[in-house]
Amino acid sequence: MGKKILWKLLMVIIVIVFASVTFAGNVRNGEKLFNSPDLGTNGRKCSSCHRKGKGINGTKRVFRIIGRKFRNPEDAINFCLKLALKGEPLEKDSKEMQDLVSYIRTLKPGKKKRVIGC
Ligand code: HEC
Repeated sequence: MGKKILWKLLMVIIVIVFASVTFAGNVRNGEKLFNSPDLGTNGRKCSSCHRKGKGINGTKRVFRIIGRKFRNPEDAINFCLKLALKGEPLEKDSKEMQDLVSYIRTLKPGKKKRVIGC
């Protein structure tokens, strides 16, 4: 392989790493929001019911919450946010929403236990 190609490859890798850090949601910040009462208005946090992510399988494409079906994590998050935290729904492309989605995507089915009551 020529040196030029190697350099181009390196540049591509740098750009991809940079872009994923900058644009993708921040998992740690998402976890903070998940554990914060500031998202809602009734003092509850996501983690009040989903302790350490309990009851959430972030690897799924379709989420079901009390009989309703959501085709993306944003709608599922906003549903719980409105109903359980009495909070304002978040814009889908807001940083908070992207961070929450990133965190939820890390939650694995192994942790799944049913959560009761909204
Ligand atoms: C009062 C309790 C409660 C609170 C607080 C709560 N949820 Fe939920 N959530 C539930 C219940 C109940 C379900 C349905 C779980 C089931 O069917 O096993 C659910 C389901 C979900 C699901 C779908 C899980 C899956 O794998 O299908 C997501 C995503 C979710 N909640 C996110 C959140 C987020 C984000 C917050 C904070 C904004 C939050 N929840 C706050 C009770 C709550």
